[in-house]
Amino acid sequence: MKNTLLELKNISYKYKKNLILNKVNLKINSGEKIALLGKSGSGKTTLISVLNGTIKPTLGEVKLFNKSFEELDRKQKHKITTIWQDLRLIEDLSAEQNVNCGLLAENNFYFAFKNLLNISSFKKAHKYMQLCKLHNSIYDKKIRKLSGGQKQRVAIARSLIQGSNILLADEPFSNLDPKLIKTIKNLLLENVDKNNIKFPKTTLVALHRLDLLNDFDKVIGIRDGKIFFNIKRTNLKKFHLDKIY
Ligand SMILES: Nc1ncnc2c1ncn2[C@@H]1O[C@H](COP(=O)(O)OP(=O)(O)OP(=O)(O)O)[C@@H](O)[C@H]1O
Ligand SMILES: [Mg+2]
Repeated sequence: MKNTLLELKNISYKYKKNLILNKVNLKINSGEKIALLGKSGSGKTTLISVLNGTIKPTLGEVKLFNKSFEELDRKQKHKITTIWQDLRLIEDLSAEQNVNCGLLAENNFYFAFKNLLNISSFKKAHKYMQLCKLHNSIYDKKIRKLSGGQKQRVAIARSLIQGSNILLADEPFSNLDPKLIKTIKNLLLENVDKNNIKFPKTTLVALHRLDLLNDFDKVIGIRDGKIFFNIKRTNLKKFHLDKIY
């Protein structure tokens, strides 16, 4: 039996007069590695925002662990983590303080306060930063002083430190060089926990790079807010891609 973790039932999302998502049905089952394809403006980021509960759909139902977001407590909601396309880092905090922000859900107000004052422990943050190949010389640098690829990896470390089961990643490779893409892709699709690090086992990644599809089980194609296909990666043919690009 497939264990469905996240489900969209007949979701539509309208902004002013524009229909941005159009009757989307989608199930994300435990352990799946899904690639989300679609051209710019097709609705990938909007779909991810509905999946993680930051956008409420105009119509339809979103279920996480078979419950609506309103029925879930904070800890349950944090079983999903998101790497945002626009990263959503706090520019005036350091890289390590930003990574520690991924721990806010499992800690109290005192931890948040200490992190803001820059007097909290960064031991765990450094472990995840190392994993993302961030050099220790940038740990205490402010975000605005970092390169695009460094910022992206800070956002990835912040997301992984959360220890969530489900990862939604929106173009996480866009600022990375080929070697880093390989390293980060392996981290995001890791199946086995290692060195006390719990990796998300269920992953959806929005991406434009078709050459990176190999490690995914499923591919979803979206166009004009509608899902055109949701298939096994091994069944993907040129005509599928022609439908969405
Ligand atoms: N906050 C917003 N207000 C109004 N319209 C929006 C907003 N965010 C997105 N849109 C519109 O919704 C549509 C889908 O946008 P979305 O960002 O989901 O696309 P995308 O597939 O992620 O594109 P890209 O590959 O460029 O990131 C676009 O037409 C966009 O202009
Ligand atoms: Mg997008």
